[in-house]
Amino acid sequence: MTTCNIAVIAGDGIGKEVMPEGLKVVQAAAEKFGLSLNFHNFDWGGCDYYLEHNRMMPENWKDIVGDMDAIYFGAVGWPDTVPDHISLWGSILTFRREFDQYINMRPVRTFEGVKCALSTPKADEIDFIVVRENTEGEYSSIGGIMYEGTDREVVLQQSVFSRHGTNRVLKYAFETAMRRAAKNLTVATKSNGMAISMPWWDSRAEAVAQDYPEISWTKQHIDILSARFVMNPERFDVVVASNLFGDILSDLGPACTGTIGLAPSANLNPERKFPSLFEPVHGSAPDIYGKNIANPIGMIWSGALMLSFLTQDSGAGASAHDAIVTAIEKTLKGATLTPDLGGEASTQTMGDAILANL
Ligand code: NAI
Ligand code: MG
Repeated sequence: MTTCNIAVIAGDGIGKEVMPEGLKVVQAAAEKFGLSLNFHNFDWGGCDYYLEHNRMMPENWKDIVGDMDAIYFGAVGWPDTVPDHISLWGSILTFRREFDQYINMRPVRTFEGVKCALSTPKADEIDFIVVRENTEGEYSSIGGIMYEGTDREVVLQQSVFSRHGTNRVLKYAFETAMRRAAKNLTVATKSNGMAISMPWWDSRAEAVAQDYPEISWTKQHIDILSARFVMNPERFDVVVASNLFGDILSDLGPACTGTIGLAPSANLNPERKFPSLFEPVHGSAPDIYGKNIANPIGMIWSGALMLSFLTQDSGAGASAHDAIVTAIEKTLKGATLTPDLGGEASTQTMGDAILANL
């Protein structure tokens, strides 16, 4: 049995509270299915480290975690002490870019026992995946400010779309759709407004689609697509989007199902040249930190995605993933609910219940 090495970075705020719950469920599921995991805890990547060292991570962070099989990450950000653009760019965004985690995969679904935020008739049938481009697009560091502070002030921030970067995220989305029953893909666009990059993005989608005749796909402008997430969420299967559009859709989707406290994400380097990173969608939630009420499900479900990824989405890791998701389903159905779900369970009570159901 080979041992997988996992870097554990809890980070800031509720990241520190939900991480122990994630670890205990992931460890138990791994044992149950014969996966050997070796966890390596790191106390950097968060704002406390920054206050002491004036940087978010040690200089040799790449040497430390570069050979790990995966990174299990809580949350980063503590705006009272470190501005968000410094803490996030120095930590989570550095991992995504330097480890070429070009896919941000975010499953969205409803659970029995969780009150859906939507009252549309088919809201209980939400089950889709958002595939977000994670390394380029609108989130670029190219640009600048001229004549700052004067009437002539000019601000430019370039979007960056490469053929390499766009083709690979589209291909990944079509491949993901191929593995699903509905075999349907929605491509987010805005070719009516962003008249250079988005018609080009659409043409890449058309080119990549040639290799996937089994997939039914449509392109939809981001504005109406967002509206349909609310009005007809059951119609979506796989949705692929640029960095900015995907960021917004992947908060909107889980919010429609009830709470972002449930939502998991995988930052993937599919070629496995670098470690992939698994984290809940939510942030450090300063407003509830220290109260022991954070919902640990986003963290736990992200751990399930990690186990599946470790064994190429088949075999022991896939079984461990499915067992964790089933345990989450049972727990929610059994009405163990944290306050964001309308209950009174603490972070640990929720973690323990999922562990027991596993
Ligand atoms: P947030 O996701 O931390 O919180 C948004 C709202 O959702 C808050 O009211 C919070 O209490 C609630 N919430 C979040 N997770 C929850 C959970 N597990 N259980 C129950 N309620 C939960 O987003 P916000 O407030 O915009 O950002 C706070 C900090 O986190 C900022 O520094 C931000 O930059 C950072 N952040 C970091 C992310 C990451 O590490 N990938 C992602 C998003 C934000
Ligand atoms: Mg976001």
